[in-house]
Parts: sequence; structure tokens; C-alpha cells
Amino acid sequence: MAANLSPFMNPAAVATYTHDTPRKVPGLADLHRMTAILLAERAPAAAHILVVGAGGGLELKAMAEAVPGWCFTGVDPSSAMLDIARETVASYTDRTTLLLGTVDQVPRGPFDGAVCLLTLHFLDRSERLHTLREIRGRMKPGRALVIAHHTSPDGNSEAWLARSATFADQTVSNTQKSANSAKAMAERLPLLTPAEEEALLLEAGFIEPKLFYAAFSFRGWVAIAS
Ligand SMILES: C[S@@+](CC[C@H](N)C(=O)[O-])C[C@H]1O[C@@H](n2cnc3c(N)ncnc32)[C@H](O)[C@@H]1O
Repeated sequence: MAANLSPFMNPAAVATYTHDTPRKVPGLADLHRMTAILLAERAPAAAHILVVGAGGGLELKAMAEAVPGWCFTGVDPSSAMLDIARETVASYTDRTTLLLGTVDQVPRGPFDGAVCLLTLHFLDRSERLHTLREIRGRMKPGRALVIAHHTSPDGNSEAWLARSATFADQTVSNTQKSANSAKAMAERLPLLTPAEEEALLLEAGFIEPKLFYAAFSFRGWVAIAS
């Protein structure tokens, strides 16, 4: 696992994940609702959805609540994050399978939709491409993939990451603290521009990538398995 992912392996470091994350990511609950809507456009009422980077379980819970007919396979390489997901989806255990690992450990499916939220920004280009290809290989053609994570919107990642850090701090004025945090994130996260993100989706075997979510440094796309 990349060094910038090691905090997710530490139970103490992720103990407050489900409390903190909705405050840090603008419109997270709406992102989850939009994700379900986009998947549902191409998935049947009784669909099997793949969730990659499912630690914490927030998107699993939101989708399970939104669509009673869907079942889910979630995978994450952090046992600490999977433990939290298990608690988060405790009311939906009959419809949720959680696996320890990366997408490589997921059965071939094929799935009726796939989701990868707040995760791909941690992976370098080659690991992202591998992850996206393996997701694609487990999906039925014509089904939707939804992704959302930090990007470098106009090549000036630090300015946008600083705004995201200010939002996460629940303040309004960008501070030295948010600037420092943005600098550290820009150094350790292998962020891509939106054009690079869309090119990678195409290279991995998806078509028609469409931007649907933009919030400071965050961007979200829906793309179709070819
Ligand atoms: C910021 S959390 C996002 C969790 C969840 N998707 C959400 O939106 O709340 C990033 C997650 O990606 C997981 N992760 C790290 N490397 C991964 C990989 N190669 N494949 C899948 N998940 C990975 C981490 O363990 C962590 O749980």
C-alpha cells in the first residue's frame, strides 16, 4: 500500500471517519444520492453493485437505504476501515458482502454498476489504470461507474486543495493552516487534471465519461462500461 494510505490502516486514526467525512466533503450526502440516481439509470431494480474502497461504509449505507432491491459487494484493503463499514451497514448485512483487499480480490461478477468514491486520488496513474480496468472487467457492458475524488481542476491544485481544507475546517477564510495542509496534500497525492481523468477512464474501457459533481478540488464522473 502507498505511504499516503497508511493512516487508513491505523484504527485510532480512522476512529472518527464516519463523523468527520460528511463535514469535510462538500455535499457528501447529495453526492451519495446522485451516485444512486446515476447507477439506477442503467441498473435493474434487483442489482448487484460493486463498491471499491468501501471502508467506512458511508456510500454503502446511503445506497442500501435508497434502493431496497440492491445488494452490494464492498472491498477495501484496510481492515480498520472495513470494521467501521461493518458497523455502518449493520442494518443491511443481508445485502452487503465486505471483502478485505483491492478490486483484484473481488469475484468476476459481473456487476450491474460500480462505485469508487474518495479513493482514486491516493493511487498513482498506473495503479489507478489497473484498478479502473479491473472494475471494468467485472461489470456488465452498458452499466455505470461513478467515481469522485480530489483532482487538480486547472493545474493549480494547491489553491483548490486549500479551499477544500478550509471547508473541512468549517471556517470561511483560507488560513495558513489550510495552505499548509494543501501543500502537504499536493505533494503526496498524485492528482490528475479533469482531462487526464477522462482519458484514463477511456483507456480503462469506459465510454462517455461525464462530469456530474464539482466542489472545490473534488470532481465526480459517471462513465459507462463499454
Ligand atoms: C478516504 S477513504 C474513502 C472511503 C469511502 N469510499 C468513502 O467515500 O467514505 C479511502 C479508502 O480507500 C481505501 N484504499 C486504499 N487503497 C485502495 C485500493 N488500491 N483499492 C481500493 N481501496 C483502496 C483505503 O483503505 C480507504 O478505506
